[in-house]
Amino acid sequence: MAQLAVNVDHVATLREARGINYPDPVGAAVAAETAGADGIVVHLREDRRHIKERDVRLLRKIVQTKLILEMASSNEMLGIALDIKPDCVTLVPEKREELTTEGGLDLITHQDHIREAVTTLKNAGIAVCIFIDPDLDQIKIAHKIDADMIEIHTGAFCDAVTKLQKQREFLRIVDAAKIGTKLKLEVNAGHGISYNTIKAFKGLTEISEFSIGHSIVSRAILTGMEQAVRDMKQLILAL
Ligand code: PXP
Repeated sequence: MAQLAVNVDHVATLREARGINYPDPVGAAVAAETAGADGIVVHLREDRRHIKERDVRLLRKIVQTKLILEMASSNEMLGIALDIKPDCVTLVPEKREELTTEGGLDLITHQDHIREAVTTLKNAGIAVCIFIDPDLDQIKIAHKIDADMIEIHTGAFCDAVTKLQKQREFLRIVDAAKIGTKLKLEVNAGHGISYNTIKAFKGLTEISEFSIGHSIVSRAILTGMEQAVRDMKQLILAL
């Protein structure tokens, strides 16, 4: 049964739109867990555009399930991770000007640097996941550098417009999930998943966890966080 990790970044986005102290992503995390979330995810970006260090520190204290910290592999972020000790770090590429994470980590280019980050985090007892495009060569390197998990970037599938594009992108995810499992990596998936696109994953039992933020926080504005998480959880239970 796949798990649901709820990303609460965009609760902080709303807070930062006014530069005040509400809504609080920490409160959203409590509501998400009450409704059955299996983990809470936040992305602490270099520019601190939504989540702040204060949020991660508070979440470390109150999250009952598991805290997953998305971050770049910079020295600054590694220092923060070693200090706060989330249960898991998901290493992502980061560009200052992007609206959201645009692609998976390029391990072919950055293999040595990422290997070092993986070793540092694992030595501190933090599980390491690598956000990666559904590309077999990249996944083989994730295995080689000793990552515990991969999170397959589902953005190209979720954003595809034509049926053919969707089919092609989904097949890439299926192949990636199968090779990851074969290499004994835990396989997660995320980015752009909605209450509609989640249904495509029916039967793809290789996926252990879905990391979902924008669609859940968007629905939460209309239905409340608990209902929004329950709705997504139910769809995942039906896969
Ligand atoms: N996984 C990763 C690595 C991400 O960077 C994001 C976006 O912060 C997500 C999952 C969640 O994506 P979305 O907000 O589109 O559900």
